[in-house]
Amino acid sequence: MAAVVVDRLVKTYPSGSRRATDDISLEVADGEFLVLVGPSGCGKTTLLRMVAGLETPDSGSVRIGGRDVTALPARERGLSMVFQSYAIFPHLKVRDNIGFGLRMRKVAKAEQTSRMQRAADLLDLSDYLDRYPAQLSGGQRQRVAVARAIAVDADVLLMDEPLSNLDALLRLQFRAELKKIVARLGTTTLYVTHDQAEAMSLGDRVAVMRDGRIAQAGAPMEVYDRPAEQFVGGFLGAPPMNFFLGTVEGSRLVVGDEALAVRVPGWQDKKALVGVRAENITAVASPGDPHAGPAGVAAEVEVAEPTGAAMLLTVRWAGGELKVQAGPGFRAAAGDRIRLTFADATLRFYDPETSLALTAGGFPDTSHPM
Ligand SMILES: Nc1ncnc2c1ncn2[C@@H]1O[C@H](COP(=O)(O)OP(=O)(O)O)[C@@H](O)[C@H]1O
Ligand SMILES: [Mg+2]
Repeated sequence: MAAVVVDRLVKTYPSGSRRATDDISLEVADGEFLVLVGPSGCGKTTLLRMVAGLETPDSGSVRIGGRDVTALPARERGLSMVFQSYAIFPHLKVRDNIGFGLRMRKVAKAEQTSRMQRAADLLDLSDYLDRYPAQLSGGQRQRVAVARAIAVDADVLLMDEPLSNLDALLRLQFRAELKKIVARLGTTTLYVTHDQAEAMSLGDRVAVMRDGRIAQAGAPMEVYDRPAEQFVGGFLGAPPMNFFLGTVEGSRLVVGDEALAVRVPGWQDKKALVGVRAENITAVASPGDPHAGPAGVAAEVEVAEPTGAAMLLTVRWAGGELKVQAGPGFRAAAGDRIRLTFADATLRFYDPETSLALTAGGFPDTSHPM
């Protein structure tokens, strides 16, 4: 096994007008599962291909297991890859597809068979070894691609959107399985996806990319809970984080005609962009609800969507819209008046000009009651 260290990688394609990766540095620890996530075109595949040795950087370096591999061809880097278009050979049986990398590496015959069998077992393919890819479902073909990649026991596993050709249900099932398998193998893994839920689910850490840069890297819940910039909060989570503009006045945050009791130290008489997750806003039906006291602020329900596990509300408040996640039993219809309270320790503050978190690393103490 081996750590991967990416140092200041810059890449501009000959036909490209801007950098596909713009000075990216990143470390994947030995045995870690790191997910690169971001919208289409942000440079994920380019970064992965430079680690693989399939694309040459303009500048910067890649180290694998302490060895500078920047100038080495792909086959000498000790890694294996799974691509979105799973690239298994149609004319080879499943057993020969899975064993392909082992034959290329001239592994001894008996060893080839045992490692092929082990990978096939891990991916539940043992009953299909003598079939051809055309005789398999899409999900099974994708399993073959993954089995082939893990059979070679590489130091580092690279995967580029390996689940994106599967339908939604299969993707969910295979995601959990993949997590189990990779955890068991303990292989250092760099995994690319545009799907934020997949990234959160799989990664020991996630690195959120935007426009050729890494906006934030950290443990999934850390990045979800404390986005370092507005983009990250908007990209992670379904629904995305709510954002609204307010003005900090003393210990109040004035939002339109409304005011919340929140202190933002070091940020007085200035506008702040406030981020809050739907599940950190509590909705109380009113009137007629015994719990509906004077607490909170008044809002109007525009849409109520049952999601099964919750009731997702779109509400109008202070001249804007908010997504609010209420309990599954919450009764509401369009036009209802409700009251909202914000768990103020969960409010996040951003500079409206830069959209970066107001305090790097830490966040303002807003833990006093509203
Ligand atoms: N072979 C290529 N030639 C020219 N431009 C490319 C090539 N591959 C990718 N790009 C461009 O580089 C940027 C990053 O692409 P890519 O790494 O594929 O992003 P992602 O995988 O995040 O969708 C995009 O603007 C894309 O159009
Ligand atoms: Mg890509």
